[in-house]
Amino acid sequence: LVIVLDFGGQYNQLVARRVRECNVYCEIYSYRIDIEKIKAMNPKGIILTGGPNSCYLEDSPTYSKELFELGIPVLGLCYGAQLMMHVLGGKVEKADVREYGKTEVLIDKKDSRVFQDVSEKTICWMSHFDYISKIAPGFEITAHTADCPVAAAENADQKLYAIQFHPEVLHTAEGTKMLYNFVRGVCDCAGDWRMDSFVESSIQAIREKVGNGKVLLALSGGVDSSVAAGLLSKAIGRQLTCVFVDHGLLRKNEGDEVEAVFGPEGDFDLNFIRVNAQERYYGKLAGVTEPEQKRKIIGEEFIRVFEEEAKKIGAVDFLAQGTIYPDVVESGLGGESAVIKSHHNVGGLPDFVDFKEIIEPLRDLFKDEVRKAGLELGLPAELVFRQPFPGPGLGVRIIGEVTAEKVRIVQDADAIYREEIAKAGLDQEISQYFAALTNMRSVGVMGDERTYDYAVALRAVKTIDFMTAEAAEIPFEVLQKVMSRIINEVKGVNRVFYDLTSKPPGTIELE
Ligand code: XMP
Repeated sequence: LVIVLDFGGQYNQLVARRVRECNVYCEIYSYRIDIEKIKAMNPKGIILTGGPNSCYLEDSPTYSKELFELGIPVLGLCYGAQLMMHVLGGKVEKADVREYGKTEVLIDKKDSRVFQDVSEKTICWMSHFDYISKIAPGFEITAHTADCPVAAAENADQKLYAIQFHPEVLHTAEGTKMLYNFVRGVCDCAGDWRMDSFVESSIQAIREKVGNGKVLLALSGGVDSSVAAGLLSKAIGRQLTCVFVDHGLLRKNEGDEVEAVFGPEGDFDLNFIRVNAQERYYGKLAGVTEPEQKRKIIGEEFIRVFEEEAKKIGAVDFLAQGTIYPDVVESGLGGESAVIKSHHNVGGLPDFVDFKEIIEPLRDLFKDEVRKAGLELGLPAELVFRQPFPGPGLGVRIIGEVTAEKVRIVQDADAIYREEIAKAGLDQEISQYFAALTNMRSVGVMGDERTYDYAVALRAVKTIDFMTAEAAEIPFEVLQKVMSRIINEVKGVNRVFYDLTSKPPGTIELE
């Protein structure tokens, strides 16, 4: 185990992911964690992340000197590096020049264990105002840049390493190598954290925890709940019941696809209950046009339907959820990051199901790890690599009132769009893309006939974190092909728009 101590840096999760890419298991904790807890976990290494503060100021996040005296290797990154120097007797000051972006770093100590096999001149990602003006006693400078005398320093005897730049960011060309050198070299971690071992050990752990108990899971067909279902099914078979609510706002054929995988014809042993609640949802949504109200109705109706099913099933021992590690961290439970969103999966337990305990088999995994686990479990690749799909489904992709007719139009248009994007080989490049139905009708001509039909909007964005996004540049021929197919094949559409809006000011979804 390697512990990542989070000082509020924006790349904290990235640090943990990179460490796991070295096949070393790690967990993120807030810098407020008690030293006794750290000792009890007996980690093989500790990494201090970056952060937005100045370590020499009174109220800034800090850690006691004892952390560096445990005999456990410590790697400080950016703020973490400065803090290490500050606490151990060096000096950190505001710099004259801010270093930001890709920067050439010159390695001074070629035999440094963290820089093993790293080029003498290497491009690294810098982002700092403060700099280390004096290293702490016992340290030596191991790298510098044109503006920064201490780009890295170390006290090799004590296994303390400070790096001013961000090896966790991919812009740091040899960053992964440096982290690998630290966790696998300096910390001597074995590197046996692998997906197959995760799947195996989780199955064991689930069996032990559940015993003969009954488990209930709300399956949405999304990646996380599907992988959770696969894992639980392998562990406890028919002690698991999955309730899949088809709210009629799924993409074309999606309900059947979920059923094909988890239903009686599929490869997984479990009780699968599909609730076809389409009509019920359309009824509730009739005449409703206000976006937030639509979202609310869809959410509440889900609870109603699930509640009814749960009542039929009766008391269960466990309620399973597809919570993943970023949900935990973003809810402010893991690291130091402010509560970005109180995730529906974390905290707020549904009080309408009679259960004793919650079970979250994916709680320690990042999204890409969840996908790997899914493949390991034999889930189809289409399901494992599905794009993000909002809980309220097509309800937020149909502007204005939702009707069965509009759902059919947007499903058909979206299916064509997805097919053509995949054919053009763009599906891995674009982060999220879909068709939406504007509430606008306009005049057109088809054959010799006047038409008065709906306009479909195509959306495609590139993004890393879904907090900001840019419209994707799709070749014009591809867009034209999609446009002509939609107009020819989807009844009720006579116009197609491409949405160029970035986020902000737009959101990714239209409602
Ligand atoms: P926006 O539209 O807010 O979307 O820019 C950002 C990302 O979140 C997804 N999204 C949702 N996901 N429930 C979800 O599970 C929701 O209510 C919801 N609304 C938006 C959206 O698809 C995009 O990936």
